[in-house]
This record gives sequence, structure tokens and C-alpha cells, in this order.
Amino acid sequence: MDQITIRRPDDWHLHLRDGDVLRHVLPFTARRFARAIVMPNLVPPVTTVDQALAYRRRILEALPPGTAFEPLMTLYLTDRTTAETIAAAAAEESVHAVKLYPAGATTNSDAGVTDIAHCDQALAAMEELDLPLLVHGETVGDDVDMFDREHRFIDERLLPLMDRHPGLRIVFEHITTARAAEFIASGPQRLAATITPQHLLFNRNHMLAGGIRPHYYCLPILKRERDREALLEAATSGHPRFFLGTDSAPHSRADKENACGCAGCFSACAAIELYAEVFAAAGRLDRLEGFASLHGPAFYHLPVNQDSITLTRSGWCLPDALPLGDGQSIVPLGAGRTLHWQLHTH
Ligand code: NCD
Ligand code: ZN
Repeated sequence: MDQITIRRPDDWHLHLRDGDVLRHVLPFTARRFARAIVMPNLVPPVTTVDQALAYRRRILEALPPGTAFEPLMTLYLTDRTTAETIAAAAAEESVHAVKLYPAGATTNSDAGVTDIAHCDQALAAMEELDLPLLVHGETVGDDVDMFDREHRFIDERLLPLMDRHPGLRIVFEHITTARAAEFIASGPQRLAATITPQHLLFNRNHMLAGGIRPHYYCLPILKRERDREALLEAATSGHPRFFLGTDSAPHSRADKENACGCAGCFSACAAIELYAEVFAAAGRLDRLEGFASLHGPAFYHLPVNQDSITLTRSGWCLPDALPLGDGQSIVPLGAGRTLHWQLHTH
């Protein structure tokens, strides 16, 4: 196969930031994807419908003229999110989900949830109004090993949460372990997961063996090779509750190559190409469309996209760095690598 045409995909987990950075990164996503679930972890976080609508307008204004792209907005859950805020979110057609960041788990999560018990009313309202919860599935704490955070979250937070709210639809974002993949595959219909390109392509040796490579550092952190293999199996299995979510998270080169480097991989500039690379290597290009373009809309109760994209087998080199505005640059995931699938420009 030298060419593959699929329905235009969507990105079900994306960080766009704001201002100059937004203007620099958005065109990459808009060229590939029709829609994206936009993460609310701005500073300050997007906690109200008014803030989400204002952010949506800024995203639309930052689009290159003539580009069709639909940002699917989310709210940032806090200890103080009220049932009224949830009702307003459920009534607003451009708001599609609410994101749970455990406080301190990742970039801009300081305002996140300190104890899920504080959110019971908000979660009950989401369950009642069928507004999905997106979870950053990590338990953090001095007693929690960095590599155990996802397992601890499943046992200590997610299972009790699912028991308390049996009707709540949940997306376990950016899963990183064999255990999480198994948990989703054997879980109920109301539970789905996104998988990033970095967790499909790399394991922790890529980040740590032979020197620390900060551009592989994201949260949840890369795990073992056997975890990567399980994620690859899940993504390419055709199972409808695994779908594409890049977690593309722009941080400047200076913020990454730093004594206290930021977490996040920037993949928007080659997102669908990186997934194609993974699916082709697994001999499963035939399942890319399900993962990238069909399973997500089905879970979110949205129509599938009507237009398509074409990828052609042809080598091209991912740039070492790209401009990010204000004299800053950004190093993409897989910088300098040769990719074998190229997005065909019409
Ligand atoms: C994300 C970011 O930079 O906003 N970073 C990351 O490592 N994935 C936040 C997140 O999704 O955890
Ligand atoms: Zn993210």
C-alpha cells in the first residue's frame, strides 16, 4: 500500500495554550484534524462556560483564514465546581466535557482537585446530564512512586468513582500502562481511553538510557517496553473505546532543556503521520481510520467527519525545531527522524 485515504481524523486530547503560542501551534492541528478536544489548563484555568466561550473565540480568531476547524471546549474541574456550572456547561453546545486534574499531577494543575469527594455534586450533575468526565489518571503524593501513579489512580480513585457514579461516562486520558489498557478493554461501555503517539512509539529507555532526553518527558511518564507493546496492541486492535488523543503540549525549547524541565511532548506538526508510522509498523494501517476518525465521535455522540485526508508513502524529515514566537523555538516529538508517511496536500 503506497497511499491511504481515511475520513478526516479528530484529536481527542490537545493543548493549544493561548496568545502567540496558540497562533504558532494551531495551524498544524487544523491542517490535519477537523476537531479537537481542547484542554482547559491555561493560567488561570478555564473553569466557567464564559471563559470556555471566550477561549473558543480566541482559537477561532487564531485560525489561518479559510481553515475549517472546530474546537471542542472543556471545563477544568476544581474542588469548588458547582452543579450550576455543570448544568450551564451541559446546555452549551460547544462545551463537550469536564477535565479532572488531580492537584499537582502535571503542567498547570495547581488549581486541580485535591480530593474527588469535594466534586461529588458536580460529578452527580455530569452523570445526570451525560456530560463526560476526562481524567488525568494519576495519583500524586510523596508516598507515590512516579511510575506507579497510574495504577494507584485506578485502584484508589477511578474504581471508587465509577462505583459512586455508575452512569458517568469517562475518558481515561493518555493511558500509559498495560494495566490501564486491560482495564479499558475489559471495562464497561461508558469507559474509553485516548493514547498518544509518544506512548505508542517510545519507552522510558528512550528518555533515560545513555543520557537524559527532556523532549521525551511528558506526563504520565513513559513506561516499560511491555507497556508500550500493550498500548500498541490496544490502539491497533479495532476496539471501539480506544481512540486518538495526541496530548500535544507545547513548551519552548528553553523550558524543556532546563534543570527543571516542563512535561509535555509537541506532536501537532506530524500527529497523524506519527500514528500512521506506528500503525504501518504493526501491519495495521487498515485500522488507523477507526482509531483516528470513528471511535472518538461514537463515544462523544458526534457525527463523523465527511471529508477525508490522504497519506502517501514517502520519506520526509521531521524538523529539529520550529518557531514558537517571541524568539522562542520548539522541538517536535521525534525531531530529526525520518517519517515514512506524508500528508498529501490537495
Ligand atoms: C501537559 C501540558 O503541558 O499541559 N503535559 C504533559 O506532559 N502531558 C499536561 C497533561 O496533559 O498532563
Ligand atoms: Zn494533556
